[in-house]
Amino acid sequence: MSTPWSLSAVALIALAGAPLAALPAQQPARLTNRAAETRFVDSILARMTLAEKLGQLNQPSGAGIATGPGGGERATRMADLRRGGIGSFLNVVGADTTRALQRIAVEETRLHIPLVFGLDVIHGFRTVFPVPLGEAASFDPSLAERAARIAATEAAAAGIDWTFAPMVDIARDPRWGRIVEGAGEDPYLGALFAAARVRGFQGKDLTASDAIAATAKHFAAYGAAEGGRDYNVADVSERTLRDVYLPPFYGAACAGAATFMASFNEIAGVPSHANRHLLTDILRNEWNYDGMVVSDYTGVWELINHGVAADSAQAAELAIHAGVDMDMVSELYVRKLAASVAAGRARQADIDEAVRRVLRFKYRLGLFKAPYARRDAARERTAMLTPASRAAAREAARRSIVLLKNEQSTLPLRKDLGTVAVIGALAADSNVVLGNWGALGRREDAVPVLDGIRRAVSSRTTVTYAAGANPTSSDTTGIAEAVRVARAADVIVLVIGETADMSAEAESRSTLDLPGAQQQLANALHATGKPIVVVLMNGRPLAIDRLQETMPAILETWFLGVEAGNGIADVLFGDANPGGKMPVTTPRVVGQVPIYYDHKNTGRPPDPAVKWTSKYWDIPFTPLYPFGFGLSYTTFTIGAPRLSATTIGSADSLRVAVDVTNTGTRAGDEVVQLYVRDDVGSVTRPVMQLRRFQRLTLAPGERRTITFTLSVRDLAFYDLAMRRVAEPGTFHVFVGPNSRDVQSATFTLRGTRSIPVPDKCSP
Ligand code: BGC
Repeated sequence: MSTPWSLSAVALIALAGAPLAALPAQQPARLTNRAAETRFVDSILARMTLAEKLGQLNQPSGAGIATGPGGGERATRMADLRRGGIGSFLNVVGADTTRALQRIAVEETRLHIPLVFGLDVIHGFRTVFPVPLGEAASFDPSLAERAARIAATEAAAAGIDWTFAPMVDIARDPRWGRIVEGAGEDPYLGALFAAARVRGFQGKDLTASDAIAATAKHFAAYGAAEGGRDYNVADVSERTLRDVYLPPFYGAACAGAATFMASFNEIAGVPSHANRHLLTDILRNEWNYDGMVVSDYTGVWELINHGVAADSAQAAELAIHAGVDMDMVSELYVRKLAASVAAGRARQADIDEAVRRVLRFKYRLGLFKAPYARRDAARERTAMLTPASRAAAREAARRSIVLLKNEQSTLPLRKDLGTVAVIGALAADSNVVLGNWGALGRREDAVPVLDGIRRAVSSRTTVTYAAGANPTSSDTTGIAEAVRVARAADVIVLVIGETADMSAEAESRSTLDLPGAQQQLANALHATGKPIVVVLMNGRPLAIDRLQETMPAILETWFLGVEAGNGIADVLFGDANPGGKMPVTTPRVVGQVPIYYDHKNTGRPPDPAVKWTSKYWDIPFTPLYPFGFGLSYTTFTIGAPRLSATTIGSADSLRVAVDVTNTGTRAGDEVVQLYVRDDVGSVTRPVMQLRRFQRLTLAPGERRTITFTLSVRDLAFYDLAMRRVAEPGTFHVFVGPNSRDVQSATFTLRGTRSIPVPDKCSP
């Protein structure tokens, strides 16, 4: 469809010839035509009034706008829109609705600037995929990329240009409910998943009608919330910020993430929405990031509550100066900044720069040329939940499952068992498997575990069911009935854990125990003496040491999305062999938190035999399941690492060869993990850090040698002087099936001084 911008945009692109402004090193080549883009954006900017500029920075929520009665809020919004007072909506969905609003922006505003529509498309749109933490357990970033691609295709058909995902916050405290939205505790794994999801959402060409812009959020250290309490203070040091919390953001920027979102928390007294060091010094000046930064929901306004702004005008002034370009929901830029500029408290230059970024963002999305491309009622009808998308969701579900325990080959189950008792309220719940950010997912599309099991078993098998207990209630009256049902069965599949709304935003918990009367239910079933398979559902690792002690088999299944029941049944009955690994360390009890594998050694490393060492009086210091842990129905051996050299120079690479053998009788997947330790540093270094991994499938008896290549970049960190360097000296390389059961070799990085290692996107 022709728009007022099509001709001028094309003409400007044709004029492009002048040398490009310095291309940020990390931006992908696909963002070409920089000069044309700059001229186009500046040509609009030159024609804008201050009010129109502030309008572009304004993103109100449009929830209810389509369905509203037509008066009140809707009428005001429409008037704002026509005046050029709105640059973007969040939470407006649907091809027709977004098209109608877009038409007003493009045809009725003075400058015809299109709107950009944003929504939280976190783990699927209509086809709901596993929650991000679950997908990370696949240790297969390409799986997350495929899931994001499908989500983008569906969302774009329904009018969405932009998702507020991926969430790339490192989380080391499972009490924090938002741990479910990210890739877990590890910066390296987190960076790979961040980049994969960005690639998936944005596709190869951000202007394509099935591509949506990604948002790396929440910048930064939001996951370090004290006490695991959402929105709380994060008091991380600059070094920890850079070594632990920033790498996934950098990975997202390298993959071309079109936008970043500021985080709700403060770091060392500075709320992110007012943090110029973070949003401008690091993001813009160090990283050369030229995308757009959006606030979090009312994040600008919250600067008042934080106590760094006396009033809403000051909140807006602080945020625009810090580098927050678009104001989500607070509406303070549009209401306050004109007066602030007049009074000399806000700089016109800051506003112009923010507007440039917003216009550039829209330009890169192709909105000026094709403002309606992503709102296509015909595609909206056909693109959703296709058989291919369902198949991808089932595959994702299978690959995200982690086998935590399997004594005496309890699993897989035979399909022709006489009676399978499925116990637990979560087993029959088609809503819970959709997780907490199910977007447009519908419970009627979702397959609960009970249905998946019913479909999988033979016609001779009876599947019985009892709820027994519910995560949200301490009522134990159903346990007797569950025991009765269980006694008549050959095997019990016990589905327990959390409801989906016990994790995600504002859903922090003070314990990691099984909620409600579920532990009592498990105890009562255990007393029957029947074989029990525990199917866990949860948005965080749970402290299930009692289950680990008593139950023969345990599967971690997170919230696996629309195909959860089928994917779980595939694994229960052996049509799929689980190969996922824990992307977070599982504590034994909540009191161990924070607990993570790449901790420091301390001056008194824990030693159970020595009193004056770093441990607990009442519990072991070790986790219940280490990071990277997961079993299979087959067995593997992983040989010791063989290094290509024992000494390397700064320009050399080191090859690490590892033999992996499937020593069992089934085909299966192993994730071979490689960790590195810098033995001595100018500052203390973690005991090990994940640097490579590979998930591979081996036939029974098959042996393969895989080779990882490391470079000096993999050894870099922020030294005593806060320079990013690799320091010469000795290193350990560990390989194994998880972070605990490893074998090692050593090498030396030659040299007498630190080797500067600048951030650069590719290894
Ligand atoms: C969340 C963000 C989300 C935004 C918009 C906020 O409350 O922190 O993650 O993108 O709402 O829904």
